Amino acid sequence: MSFFYFVLTNTEAFDLLQEELRSRYPDLRKSYSRPGFMTLKSEKSIPFKAHFARVFGVCHGKKTREELNQYQRAWVWNREKELEIPPDLKKLSESSNFKIGEKVTLIMMVGPDEYWVGEYDLKRTHFQTPGEESSIVERDDVPSRAYYKLAELYEAYDLPFDHQERVLELGSAPGGATLFLLEQDLLVLGVDPAEMNDEVKKKFGFRHLKIPFETLGPQHFTDDIDWMISDVNLPPSVVIKEVERMLDFLAPKGILLTLKIAQPNHVHMIPDFMDRIRKFGYKVDLKYVPSFRKEIALIALKDL
Ligand SMILES: C[S@@+](CC[C@H](N)C(=O)[O-])C[C@H]1O[C@@H](n2cnc3c(N)ncnc32)[C@H](O)[C@@H]1O
Repeated sequence: MSFFYFVLTNTEAFDLLQEELRSRYPDLRKSYSRPGFMTLKSEKSIPFKAHFARVFGVCHGKKTREELNQYQRAWVWNREKELEIPPDLKKLSESSNFKIGEKVTLIMMVGPDEYWVGEYDLKRTHFQTPGEESSIVERDDVPSRAYYKLAELYEAYDLPFDHQERVLELGSAPGGATLFLLEQDLLVLGVDPAEMNDEVKKKFGFRHLKIPFETLGPQHFTDDIDWMISDVNLPPSVVIKEVERMLDFLAPKGILLTLKIAQPNHVHMIPDFMDRIRKFGYKVDLKYVPSFRKEIALIALKDL
């Protein structure tokens, strides 16, 4: 008997996903793929999980248009915006609700008249949208994509940001994430040798330390910080080393690190990064959000 699984991810992360699957599940074989969509086959059932995926689950195979009539409740996702979802399937998707903990039936429109069906458990940290597409509305006044990355993480984890909490933001320029944090009524200390966006830097609640994060020391802090966030575009081993160093004199209740995974072989370092942060008493999770490219978020919370 064969077992099939499906994975949806962003095209930029496809090589990272393949490397992750190759190393964690050597029994899995790629069965079929199109940009952003992959099915996998195994001769035994495995506890399948893919970190570099927006969503993954059990695959029930390719279905004809007629076979889709059997589904009374399903979300429908299209691989490309140009693939217009037929009106009856659109109606089915819009009228289907799934609760956290339930199994979602997902109809994946992979090509014109090409439909695949999968099933996955809806988790609290999932976006409640077909195919895990972002539910954050795009704006034209944000200084960078990092605004959406952070907004998506905030939504997925329902992050317990409280009014006027203090955030140490490493790699803050030009300021997309800072803008999101300020909009949540947080106070931000941004650390980045690069310039911040003019609009962001004059906002109330923001202070800029125009220095590399390697030079940050206890002398830069008069108050405790509640959150540590990093989007520094240096190798993840450097970021983790610096975060470990700072956790000797700072004790945030939550840490959000966007780790840039430039090369597939860096995927193997991630479990070690998680262990190293766990040692400071955090519960640690990974999340690939819709706005990510070659990166992954490490979320560490005192009570995840
Ligand atoms: C992806 S960008 C950050 C985007 C930013 N989070 C935002 O919301 O707009 C990466 C940033 O890391 C910064 N960076 C690189 N090396 C750094 C270092 N040693 N210390 C602090 N920031 C650094 C870069 O200057 C750059 O602004």
